[in-house]
Amino acid sequence: MHKTRVLLAKSHGFAEAASLLQEGALVAFPTETVYGLGGDATNDTAVARIFEAKERPSFNPLIVHVADIEAAKNIAVFDDMSLRLAGAFWPGPLTLVLPLRPQAEIAPLVTAGLESIALRIPEHPVAQSLLEAFGGPIAAPSANPSGKVSPTRAEHVIQGLSGRIEAVLDGGACPVGLESTIIGLVDAPALLRPGGLPLEDIEECIGSKLSYGGDSSTPTAPGQLTSHYAPQMPIRLNASTASSDEVLLGFGPDCAKSTLNLSETGDLVEAAANLFHFLREIDGCGQKIAVSPIPEKGLGRAINDRLRRAAAPRA
Ligand code: TXA
Ligand code: MG
Repeated sequence: MHKTRVLLAKSHGFAEAASLLQEGALVAFPTETVYGLGGDATNDTAVARIFEAKERPSFNPLIVHVADIEAAKNIAVFDDMSLRLAGAFWPGPLTLVLPLRPQAEIAPLVTAGLESIALRIPEHPVAQSLLEAFGGPIAAPSANPSGKVSPTRAEHVIQGLSGRIEAVLDGGACPVGLESTIIGLVDAPALLRPGGLPLEDIEECIGSKLSYGGDSSTPTAPGQLTSHYAPQMPIRLNASTASSDEVLLGFGPDCAKSTLNLSETGDLVEAAANLFHFLREIDGCGQKIAVSPIPEKGLGRAINDRLRRAAAPRA
């Protein structure tokens, strides 16, 4: 990739950033909390490239940014409690984890195959203008390499991700400077991550104390997060061939003839973009699965992490 471009937060900058997103390119942008590493949330390949750019060793689900409550309702199911929180704090530094609508046009990699989705309407005018110009949902984790601190200025984004993303919209320093507070609303309301919106404000709004649900990116029990979406049938890894009662999930040119090939050319971004679609397909077919070896580099690390969890014995 060429050098990462710095776009000015003016009308032509928004138009340029929006058209890059429409092409599946990655654009970092400021929100009131931190800079987000944005990609089209409906585009499997763009979302796979977000994980690649961050060098994340696993597929943590991402936050999806939308322009308004109508867009949010097209993606997730709201009840009285979630409507009250959205009404009180959106736009703002609050992320709600809600049931995903089965028909929502969201790449399954965004939610790492979960049936819930993290949504937020950012308040920052640059984020709002970008969402308006793009006209669709933008998946965006914080715009830092995995394991590094979140960026609060365009130059931090450049320091961490230069050459790994197409552009950054420069909107100056982020006013909050801390990630959004995340509230889980799929089961009983729970604080999943403390952040830029004080817990007290949220508790006052809902009229009760919130339990601490823990950050889903660091599940306390192995497989806690994955148990939702592990395929029902047994999975065998590093298989060179499938036996008669197995379906081969292939990777690379040597298995071009397998029914499902994550990437015939051995492209790890393509494989990541296909992974959750294929796991779902496999789930429906009622057969055992043999998976070809995937190289342990780049996105291969996250793909293998995901497959190892799927193959682990279930409780
Ligand atoms: O302020 C922020 O929230 C920034 C800006 C860019 O919006 N974004 C951000 O994203 O911090 P990220 O990817 O660094 O953190 C997302 C967190 C992760 O800890 C992830 O586990 C959690 O949100 N998350 C996302 N989807 C989830 C889901 N369906 N269920 C539970 N947790 C979820
Ligand atoms: Mg982060």
